[in-house]
Amino acid sequence: MADEVSRNERIKEASDYLRGTLAEGLRDQITGSIVEDNAQLVKFHGMYLQDDRDLRGERARKKMEKAFAFMIRVRVPGGVCTPAQWLTLDKIARDYGNGTVRITTRQAVQLHGVIKSNLKATLKQIDDALLSTIAACGDVNRNVMSNPNPYQSRAHGAALALARAISDHLTPRTPAYREIWLDGERIVGGEDEAVEPIYGKTYLPRKFKTVVAVPPSNDVDVFAHDLGFIAILDRAGNVEGWNVTVGGGMGMTHGEPETYPRAADVMGFCRTADAVAVAEAVVTVQRDWGDRANRKHARLKYTIEDRGLAAFHAEVERRARVKLGEARPFTFTSTGDRYGWTEGESGRAHLTLYIENGRVLDAPGRAQLLTGVRQIAELHDGDFRFTANQNVIIANVAEDKRATIAKLAAEHGLLAPASGLRRNAVACVALPTCGLALAESERYLPDLVTALEAQLAVHGLAEDDIVIRMTGCPNGCARPYLGEIGLVGKGPGRYNLYLGAAFEGTRLSKLYAEDLDHTAIVAALEPVIAAYAAERRKGERLGDFVVRAGFVAATGNGRDFHANTGAKRAA
Ligand code: HEM
Ligand code: SF4
Repeated sequence: MADEVSRNERIKEASDYLRGTLAEGLRDQITGSIVEDNAQLVKFHGMYLQDDRDLRGERARKKMEKAFAFMIRVRVPGGVCTPAQWLTLDKIARDYGNGTVRITTRQAVQLHGVIKSNLKATLKQIDDALLSTIAACGDVNRNVMSNPNPYQSRAHGAALALARAISDHLTPRTPAYREIWLDGERIVGGEDEAVEPIYGKTYLPRKFKTVVAVPPSNDVDVFAHDLGFIAILDRAGNVEGWNVTVGGGMGMTHGEPETYPRAADVMGFCRTADAVAVAEAVVTVQRDWGDRANRKHARLKYTIEDRGLAAFHAEVERRARVKLGEARPFTFTSTGDRYGWTEGESGRAHLTLYIENGRVLDAPGRAQLLTGVRQIAELHDGDFRFTANQNVIIANVAEDKRATIAKLAAEHGLLAPASGLRRNAVACVALPTCGLALAESERYLPDLVTALEAQLAVHGLAEDDIVIRMTGCPNGCARPYLGEIGLVGKGPGRYNLYLGAAFEGTRLSKLYAEDLDHTAIVAALEPVIAAYAAERRKGERLGDFVVRAGFVAATGNGRDFHANTGAKRAA
């Protein structure tokens, strides 16, 4: 391997297919931590080493080790799980975690606060429930998303089937996961080809994210991900095939304009029978062409910006032995969830619950969300679905259980609020667990929304759907650059404000104002909201309005994201 590869590449190469010294590290009871190389490898197994940042100062004063614990991410392809699986997650959260289950923006589930000595027991219970954490994090294809309700139509069923097929095909094959966590027998040797036929020894240059969307809903935010499939339907509602999107991604670094979020390109159209081969080819081209020297330049979006879409397209066709067709027309109308009841097939219905920031917990003196969802799981015989907006759908509810489930949801604060802003608010985890957070997100967004609700009410916009997203740092886990209002942490209590993304998730926002505290955020948005109320056209969304009215520029994806930013119109 060339000299200039990044440290992570060496760790992967030396790891013997993700084993490293994890098994030994787990047995070391002197520390609650693991060594740095293993901390990189453990991500591929779906875990992040973290510490409680709220406790850092106090523990340092007492000369104690940081309060180390692990975040465990359970992959849930298409966001579909059973009530029994939910009950396992709920139990683990209470027995070993911090008493909360976190529904993520990528239809996975996070458990926080699991200490090292409880990891194996936790992973065993997850495995017993037929769930897995493999490849939930790390430089591999992560949880594959799809529109969450397969019972909505035939196309939704086809989308879930494709998501599962891609997920299975691109799951790492290394036996290390079973060996380390589930006391599987050690399997030695084997040629690269045999162990990891798709990834090889060094896996991918960086994380890789795949989604499947069914228009008109873009709830999975297809343009935010490395690889996407958009269902193209015939008049009868059958799937004719899929438009393939490539090169989306959110992460960037403040002050480094060579890093940027990017909305994916539509590369062409493929038949269902070819979709898995196309997915594999996209992955292997990125495996071979992606930047392994600089991790800040290693996502597929940079490969495509640097090599050009045409060259990438040609190489994917060559490797997949598939000629892509011209992309077909499609229309998205929103990225949000449809709360409340929807009717399904054969007399069964679905109830979309509202979970603020995806955090399912029993908060002292507030709503008992964890208890409510548990009680629903105990009597429900349909499914659970996780949405990309961090909500839970109780799917396929039997007629005779509807009234009880509706009552439980209402009693436990699980129904959507009236406010159009709060219904469309998404925040990443940030403090206290995320080591990369520069500012609060999940713990602050609800209060900001309260302040903005008052402002919106004054202008008669209280019930209008407006997408607001916040992250504690520019990595963008809650996809802030695709929110009509995006807030990105800059430092403690300070945020950059982005405006102008399309409501339906097809266009990125632009930087509008920098380094704002709470008062400044509210003040900066006041004239924008006032102008929107006074001047908007019928049905015009906030994101479209601010572009038309000149608050932010309209152009610039990829490397031009940072160009033409800022207000063109005096606030
Ligand atoms: C350089 C980029 C990124 C890094 C280093 C990173 C790292 C992390 C870390 C450490 C966490 C754990 C936080 C916690 O639970 O305590 C996290 C959460 C998460 N990240 Fe990222 N992230 C990055 C970008 C993204 C992007 C672009 C997306 C999605 C489009 C994403 C999706 C998620 C999701 C779904 C979670 C779970 C929690 C949630 O829903 O907020 N990440 N990320
Ligand atoms: S956006 Fe930043 S602060 Fe938020 S979870 Fe992701 S890495 Fe952490």
